[in-house]
Amino acid sequence: METLLPIHSPLFLAGSELDELPAWDMIFGNQHPLVLEIGCGIGDFAVTMAARHPDWNYLAIDFYNKGCLKTCRRAERFGLQNIRVVRDEARSFISRCIAKGSLRAVFINCPDPWPKRRQRKRRLVNEAFVATLADYLMPGGDLYFTTDFADYGIDVARMMPRQRQFENVLAPDLWRHDLDQYPRTKYMLKFMAEGSAIHFVHYRRTNDG
Ligand SMILES: C[S@@+](CC[C@H](N)C(=O)[O-])C[C@H]1O[C@@H](n2cnc3c(N)ncnc32)[C@H](O)[C@@H]1O
Repeated sequence: METLLPIHSPLFLAGSELDELPAWDMIFGNQHPLVLEIGCGIGDFAVTMAARHPDWNYLAIDFYNKGCLKTCRRAERFGLQNIRVVRDEARSFISRCIAKGSLRAVFINCPDPWPKRRQRKRRLVNEAFVATLADYLMPGGDLYFTTDFADYGIDVARMMPRQRQFENVLAPDLWRHDLDQYPRTKYMLKFMAEGSAIHFVHYRRTNDG
């Protein structure tokens, strides 16, 4: 079990202490749209994106305490105000704390691959989870999924066209191995250095359904 180093950062939120449907406008001090990154790791991607989009309220979530600590420190070094780092399990956080139709974008980068066939049911991204995300994204909201694990990437890319509430931004491609301007995460860089290709999947919530 991970030893929980205390995190004394104004940017940190412990999921267990959050109210149901927190007043995000009050927390961020503005009414900008919420963006959610699931499994932010050390926060490299989160900080780049929050700095690039001052008009987003960026929620970086991970249940890994040391990752939350590193993400807070990095965001503080960059002087960011538009990010909060939440230590929580993503699915329970979304259902408790996010209003349906409120997310401008969701980023899921290199989620744990659970590579063995018998472990695959533990993967975060599957049809049920994507259908849930459709409810929480606003019309026109973006869903990005990236993975260093080809089998996971191809599974998700082949499942997505069945999701009626999404359109494929990369059509006719189901996935690409590069996306312009998309920051590389720690895990992406590690696997790219080992010669693995990254699978990038990008869908958009449609206006209907
Ligand atoms: C393989 S790491 C990738 C980290 C980072 N996104 C990157 O690409 O460098 C996956 C991260 O997702 C977090 N994670 C996995 N499942 C999660 C869940 N259900 N809720 C919150 N965090 C999760 C893990 O703690 C870990 O930090």
